[in-house]
Amino acid sequence: MTDLPQLELDLINAIGGATTVAEVEAVRVNALGKTGVISGLLKGMGAMSPDERREQGPMINGLRDRVASAIADRKAELEAAELDARLLSEKVDLTLPARPRRKGGVHPTMQVMDEMVAIFASMGFAVAEGPDIEDDFHNFTALNFPPKHPAREMHDTFFLKPDPETGERKVLRTHTSPVQVRTMMSQQPPIRIIAPGRTFRKDSDATHTPMFHQVEGLVIDRDIHMGHLKTTLQTFIARFFELDTVDARFRPHHFPFTEPSAEMDIRCDRSGGQIKFNEGTDWLEILGCGMVHPNVLRSCGIDPDEYQGFAFGMGVDRLGMLKYGMPDLRPMFEADVRWLAHYGFSAFSSPNPASGLS
Ligand code: PHE
Repeated sequence: MTDLPQLELDLINAIGGATTVAEVEAVRVNALGKTGVISGLLKGMGAMSPDERREQGPMINGLRDRVASAIADRKAELEAAELDARLLSEKVDLTLPARPRRKGGVHPTMQVMDEMVAIFASMGFAVAEGPDIEDDFHNFTALNFPPKHPAREMHDTFFLKPDPETGERKVLRTHTSPVQVRTMMSQQPPIRIIAPGRTFRKDSDATHTPMFHQVEGLVIDRDIHMGHLKTTLQTFIARFFELDTVDARFRPHHFPFTEPSAEMDIRCDRSGGQIKFNEGTDWLEILGCGMVHPNVLRSCGIDPDEYQGFAFGMGVDRLGMLKYGMPDLRPMFEADVRWLAHYGFSAFSSPNPASGLS
């Protein structure tokens, strides 16, 4: 007959002496595993006489329960100790300075916007802003888009759900031109502003993303004419691309909010798989512009007989692609850290006209 008290003592000692979870597990297998000692005793009960079983049964079962619970306790104790040790060894010191190769950077779009702001600021322009969610009046009506006119669809507009009370449908602004309206309605001429910001259109391919950035420009004063428009934009583009001059042409175009309207193209050569400005015989479209339509001035409470002006709008991301040689627009907004590390700019060198732009 097995000496049960002795067996229990041995097992409890072995459990107490185990110093790792694996050692406790080994004791458990020896005692309670398929071929373990206690399992053997439990199995042996089948061959006992009823009297023996009545006497031995509770002792064996009690032994099994006490050993099982001692194992569970020791296991929990050792697991907690192992976790503590691991937490201690895997400790991260958050106060350590960031490693240089993990430093953040400036997104090319923000860099290009800063460059544009720096150039226009040096030409006497102030920065204006408007909301991303616009109403129909500012995005279309005040800009001389006729009601129900297909021109409103021309922009592949994202419409928000209609307001349940008024039925009004707000839009994600399709261009930064509504900031022209907001500026003219809130301040008196002379006006000389640029408005950088996000714009939205249902469009997606290598050169279009549903969200993109524009910079709008607006100049309103007495006696402003196309000559001012041309010089301002040619000067800007030359400085932006860090060229002495640009060969530009103003090609007639249509926008509801300008008359006359034009697109500005710059002469370039694309034969080498790379764009070279002021060379070759190709023309690259850069921006839209024109003289502010008298209806727009009137919608904003400005007398077109007294004041005129010009406006322009250009794609920031696109100009950034051209300047910094990015082939595809889409990765700009995918937030892939490898792309950002490759095309990003240092946060410590903000563009200004004195020290250079890029
Ligand atoms: N808003 C026009 C666009 O999104 C650009 C533009 C702005 C054209 C101002 C003329 C004047 O394409």
